[in-house]
Amino acid sequence: MPSPMSTEEAPQQSPRQGTDSLGVRQGLQAGTMRVVVIGAGVIGLSTALCIHERYHSVLPSLDVKIYADCFTPLTTTDVAAGLWQPYLSDPSNPQEVHWNQQTFDYLLSHIHSPKAARMGLAPVSGYNLFHEAVPDPFWKDIVLGFRKLTPRELDMFPNYSYGWFSTNLILEGRTYLQWLTERLTERGVKFFQRKVESFEEVARGGADVIINCTGVWAGGLQPDPLLQPGRGQIIKVDAPWVKHFILTHDPDSGIYKSPYIIPGIQALTLGGIFQLGNWSEANSIQDHNTIWEGCCRLEPTLKDARIVAECTGCRPVRPHIRLERERLRFGSANTEVIHNYGHGGYGLTIHWGCALEAAALFGKVLEERKLLTMPPSHL
Ligand SMILES: Cc1cc2nc3c(=O)[nH]c(=O)nc-3n(C[C@H](O)[C@H](O)[C@H](O)COP(=O)(O)OP(=O)(O)OC[C@H]3O[C@@H](n4cnc5c(N)ncnc54)[C@H](O)[C@@H]3O)c2cc1C
Ligand SMILES: *[C@@H]1O[C@H](CO)[C@@H](O)[C@H](O)[C@H]1NC(C)=O
Ligand SMILES: *[C@@H]1O[C@H](CO)[C@@H](O)[C@H](O)[C@H]1NC(C)=O
Ligand SMILES: *[C@@H]1O[C@H](CO)[C@@H](O)[C@H](O)[C@H]1NC(C)=O
Repeated sequence: MPSPMSTEEAPQQSPRQGTDSLGVRQGLQAGTMRVVVIGAGVIGLSTALCIHERYHSVLPSLDVKIYADCFTPLTTTDVAAGLWQPYLSDPSNPQEVHWNQQTFDYLLSHIHSPKAARMGLAPVSGYNLFHEAVPDPFWKDIVLGFRKLTPRELDMFPNYSYGWFSTNLILEGRTYLQWLTERLTERGVKFFQRKVESFEEVARGGADVIINCTGVWAGGLQPDPLLQPGRGQIIKVDAPWVKHFILTHDPDSGIYKSPYIIPGIQALTLGGIFQLGNWSEANSIQDHNTIWEGCCRLEPTLKDARIVAECTGCRPVRPHIRLERERLRFGSANTEVIHNYGHGGYGLTIHWGCALEAAALFGKVLEERKLLTMPPSHL
């Protein structure tokens, strides 16, 4: 856990940097680049890491800070089961297909590395089950070995008449956040525990670029009528005999509203709750019973499993992810904001592609400000 600091150091002054009457730092001429990432879930930390990996060698003055009111284990990312699987329907923004693919390929490239276990990463195979035939999903060629279930396989699931088998990946949110935190700390990125009330306060504190990775709470900083909470509750059980994921689907009720079972590295996650518009992060006994009964019907051996944890989180639901630049002016200072939020129930599934895109947007800011072509003598 990073040591929180409550005060921001004073902006450094140099002859090449002007200061306006409000004390706002103006110039980037000296080649400084102060980046503040708001949010310490999977989106904030992976975006910070991607930007640092890509640009610190060409821009030695790059200074990255993370501001967040909650860190692991208290973020929505810590609640996620961590299965790599997008929604079944085509994303309304076709770029999301690409970002999902980039994330799968990036994770797959680490699977045979010794660091996979410390990342919380492992392959996991399993079943998607339906009551009737459905079209193949857009991600069938991204996962490994996607195929339809045979009648003998379907015999294992009495209430389901159609399904798919595939090998996907598991990326456990909590373990991955710890891993990202270690990588960022090694690189000198500092963490600050604070609630940001406005972009303006961060801009006036001296940030040249603000990366907005505030998940479902993004609406607190700038109203966003498209963003809604998709409340989920999960039960973690100790059931090492369950080796496959089993996701059931009921297209009439909507995504993740019917029982699912996802093996993780430590525990098995049971779920099946998706309540749009509900901000409650309290566990509900009614939802507990719905999950427990649904999952025990699906996998009757769970009746003997010991419950190890139960938690609730709000998915940042949006018709599509917001990943774009916005230029804000406060006084005479120009601050760039890069928004990266609204990853719904597939934040871990798509995070790295989004981090690459955010880093590319950041690179455009550097180009426009002529920071990438600056000769070393100016730095
Ligand atoms: C029950 C459940 C199961 C899920 N299962 C999966 C799964 O299997 N696979 C998958 O891919 N996805 C899954 N998800 C979705 C996934 O959890 C989210 O998409 C993802 O965690 C979003 O990450 P994030 O970084 O945007 O948000 P978060 O993890 O919520 O992080 C937001 C960060 O912003 C900070 N913040 C917000 N506002 C402010 C502010 N004003 N000032 C300072 N800090 C601020 C918060 O403190 C926090 O650090 C699941 C979600 C739930 C709820
Ligand atoms: C960050 O994004 C959220 C979500 O839209 C928005 O409400 C908030 O205003 C943004 N914050 C900034 C500083 O742009
Ligand atoms: C939100 O969920 C909680 C917990 O299940 C429940 O008690 C509450 O009634 C729900 N609120 C709304 C507005 O649906
Ligand atoms: C099948 O579905 C029915 C109705 O939803 C339910 O009562 C029954 O318990 C289910 N059986 C199994 C094995 O899941």
